[in-house]
Amino acid sequence: MNNTTKPTLDTAFKKDVFEGLTQFPKYLYSKYFYDEKGDKLFQDIMNMPEYYLTDCEFDILSLHTEAIAEFFRGSGHGFDLIELGAGDGKKTKILLKYLGENDFNFVYRPIDISQNAIDSLTKTLSNELPKVDVRGEKGEYFEVLERVQEYNTRKKVIMVLGSNIGNLLHKRAIEFLAKLKDSMREGDLLFMGFDQKKDPETILNAYNDPHGITATFNKNILHRINRELDGNFPVDDFRHWESYNPESGTAKSFLVAEKPMEVTIAALNLTVKFDAWETIHTEISQKYDDQVVEWLAGEAGLDIETSYTDPKGYYKNYVFKRINA
Ligand SMILES: C[S@@+](CC[C@H](N)C(=O)[O-])C[C@H]1O[C@@H](n2cnc3c(N)ncnc32)[C@H](O)[C@@H]1O
Repeated sequence: MNNTTKPTLDTAFKKDVFEGLTQFPKYLYSKYFYDEKGDKLFQDIMNMPEYYLTDCEFDILSLHTEAIAEFFRGSGHGFDLIELGAGDGKKTKILLKYLGENDFNFVYRPIDISQNAIDSLTKTLSNELPKVDVRGEKGEYFEVLERVQEYNTRKKVIMVLGSNIGNLLHKRAIEFLAKLKDSMREGDLLFMGFDQKKDPETILNAYNDPHGITATFNKNILHRINRELDGNFPVDDFRHWESYNPESGTAKSFLVAEKPMEVTIAALNLTVKFDAWETIHTEISQKYDDQVVEWLAGEAGLDIETSYTDPKGYYKNYVFKRINA
């Protein structure tokens, strides 16, 4: 790496890309996979048979719709349903449909880092479920948590589906859960999906599909850097690589340089050198069991109220409350 003049890192994207590519080993954050193209690729991933997570959570929400909705039900004032990292709301719609049809008093507030995801979700919901009051916002989890605290005039239900929490290492996951807990008052709920440990091969296949969709999704981050930061990554010279450690329960995605190269990113005044077979770590997808979820919750000051699982026991959605609330 050599950078001549100090660049202006005036957006979080620039700052994070600069930091990640000037460290050893190199890394990029998975939240930057998601732009219009990344959102579409993730929808394709959810439709793959190998990506069991979506079907399992879909089954849980379909089998337990009424019980989950009853947990959400507020007092006479109703509730705000705040979803972090909502994506295309494929599974959330099961709940929204039930809540709408049964005249629950609520506002649905989806939040996502991708403006495209929020715009598309708002549009499809206004067509498919016109009775539901939808107020979407673009935002990053840790930023919007400050704003979430402002919804405190009535019950708050915070929802995080898709095992999105698995993108955070345990330390950061505890910080995230603790911040959520701080924004919750008595009676508020956190409803969150956690992908469970299982046959390592099943897990590996979910992130390593033979159609190459996950590889294209992983590489989208390099296309974004090329397009938005005037970079010249030779994207085809990187290989998608997935690993899963059954001991820690951590799946990791990498982009591996297949040859030595120098990449310039004009908007960052940065030249990045890669040795052959050097890696960029791009994503973690943590897998859990009850003990680990209990530990994370306890560290963050949350109690598990109940949990729901799918018929195969691959995935679980937990209901949390504040301890002593
Ligand atoms: C794995 S997808 C899951 C989408 C949806 N929850 C589901 O279960 O189908 C992750 C979603 O979270 C969003 N996201 C990822 N990192 C984020 C962050 N740090 N802050 C806000 N949204 C984020 C992405 O744009 C994407 O829509």
